[in-house]
Amino acid sequence: MNTQSEISILPAHVAIIMDGNGRWAKLRGEPRNKGHRQGVKSVKNIVKTCISKGVSTLTLFAFSSENWKRPRTEVSLLMELFLTALGSELRELDKNGVRLRFIGDRSDIPAKVQRAMENAEIQTTDNQNLTLVIAVSYGGQWDIKQAVQQLARRIEAGELTADEINERHIADNLSTVEIPPPDLFIRTGGERRISNFLLWQLAYTELYFTDTLWPDFDDQAFSEALDDYAKRQRRYGMTPEQTQAKQVSHA
Ligand code: FPP
Repeated sequence: MNTQSEISILPAHVAIIMDGNGRWAKLRGEPRNKGHRQGVKSVKNIVKTCISKGVSTLTLFAFSSENWKRPRTEVSLLMELFLTALGSELRELDKNGVRLRFIGDRSDIPAKVQRAMENAEIQTTDNQNLTLVIAVSYGGQWDIKQAVQQLARRIEAGELTADEINERHIADNLSTVEIPPPDLFIRTGGERRISNFLLWQLAYTELYFTDTLWPDFDDQAFSEALDDYAKRQRRYGMTPEQTQAKQVSHA
């Protein structure tokens, strides 16, 4: 059983850039798609581990706005892989209490994939063990742009003035509305970049980068990331003394 201190140092929301599938395959002389298929296995494992550890939200960057620039064959393969994974895993995810949410610009996604995404969201809407947010055709800049457009429409309609806009208005119009910001961001595969992932939402998130390639990111690698997170002091702009006082008052 978890002690109180273990509970408080577990991130409630983990967001991951799953990088390195292509290199994993190349190292083995295999085509890139083999790496993506292996990446799906890592996804399944991390979902299971998040449920057992009690992480409440997991956000995975599956396909970025920029990934549309990849060769057509790889884009089609990734879309097919999402469709197949959704088809084969939905029942199991539902049984395990996983609520699925997709974020991103759906307009470019093939219609059959869009339908599968909508069905999965509807079927799992009442589940409460883990919210699994999958970013597909997602870009942080796209998300902020569409939020600004929604607010601009409200201004045009006379419902809001420019001076009334505050941070809450922006957060409430992002695709992550009602999802708390990530506590821990993990990027596998060696790069130290955010790459247009959750730009607004990562403002106070603890960042963790590892050279481990996504298909190799197992429970041991995840535990190392969680241990590293547990040692961080999150200050939200305050001094170390203020932060400690706040932690004591909440203990
Ligand atoms: C990055 O590796 C990975 C992707 C762009 C796709 C991620 C997709 C999966 C893990 C599979 C499906 C996911 C779900 C949620 C079912 P890369 O191709 O950029 O690797 P590289 O940097 O080594 O080339």
